[in-house]
Amino acid sequence: MTGNKILSIQGLRTEFPTPHGPIVAVNGVDLEVARGEVLGIVGESGSGKTVLGLSAMGLIDLPGKVTAGRILFGGQDLTRHTEAQWQAIRGKRMAMVFQDPTTSLNPVQRIGAQMIEALQAHRDISKDAAKRIVLEAMVRVGINSPEERLLSYPHQFSGGMRQRVVIATALLNEPDLIIADEPTTALDVTVQAQILRDVRRLCQDAGTALIWVSHDLGVVAQIAHRVAVMYAGRIVEQGITNRLLKTPSHPYTAGLIASMPTNAKRGERLRSIPGGLPQLSNLPVGCAFAPRCAQASAACDVLPELVSTSAEHAVRCVSPLNEAA
Ligand SMILES: Nc1ncnc2c1ncn2[C@@H]1O[C@H](COP(=O)(O)OP(=O)(O)O)[C@@H](O)[C@H]1O
Ligand SMILES: [Mg+2]
Repeated sequence: MTGNKILSIQGLRTEFPTPHGPIVAVNGVDLEVARGEVLGIVGESGSGKTVLGLSAMGLIDLPGKVTAGRILFGGQDLTRHTEAQWQAIRGKRMAMVFQDPTTSLNPVQRIGAQMIEALQAHRDISKDAAKRIVLEAMVRVGINSPEERLLSYPHQFSGGMRQRVVIATALLNEPDLIIADEPTTALDVTVQAQILRDVRRLCQDAGTALIWVSHDLGVVAQIAHRVAVMYAGRIVEQGITNRLLKTPSHPYTAGLIASMPTNAKRGERLRSIPGGLPQLSNLPVGCAFAPRCAQASAACDVLPELVSTSAEHAVRCVSPLNEAA
């Protein structure tokens, strides 16, 4: 990690009250992202990835609430921001791309008009100037005949092209940070791989920090410089992508790697991690993964800290694997 960090999340906690006690979806998360860096966040469905992204964008709706921690963005603590202050930075200095493009695209408005509006909402420029920037952005994300495509409606695009439009829109105002929440999950593998490559290049060229959220470690491995593994609302391991894939320290990371399709030998069944996520409103006192872990012992009844093993690696486990690595 360089000193050039744009986002620093410290001790973040996000809860949803229920009659059975609060669901703690994000449970003391620490994260840092530098300019031009791609951080992957991976974990099974329900581990708190989306809630973490929404929290960092100030998009948690009541009765849900960020109850602890700080979100330092460009040196300012966003948890103290008013809604008006959030609105001034959202879509401008930070943007979010969601899994379902229908949440960000208006089905009854032409693509060009939507993108021009997104630009003019934050910049005092003429419609013609905005149109020029929009056309450039469309070309950059690989949309052919952009002049024609400006006049199309969202349903006239393929799924992959729709997500390219959403990504182009997120990039329009040259944000410092983009949080992308499984935007390619519904797409086929080839289209997904092309988009991952293009987005990574665009962000690197522009110096935009990118947080890429996915349940699929294979996807995260294609795009991220570093990976944070999330389990039951907590980061259980983080490190440089290659190192993490080669020598995982947390048994949960090892389980995710073993269940990647590319790691299955021909004819062999995929090894999925047995069991399921614990209830977030009723977490075990100790390590939340212990009930599913082959390595678990009595020592796991106490919650381990996320311990740094080097400048770039940290793990939350009392008996990590590959310790000497
Ligand atoms: N608005 C909400 N109200 C109550 N619980 C929620 C809400 N949003 C998310 N959750 C809960 O928070 C947990 C984490 O969800 P989420 O962040 O969507 O997981 P992921 O994105 O990793 O699949 C889940 O148990 C989910 O049910
Ligand atoms: Mg999600």
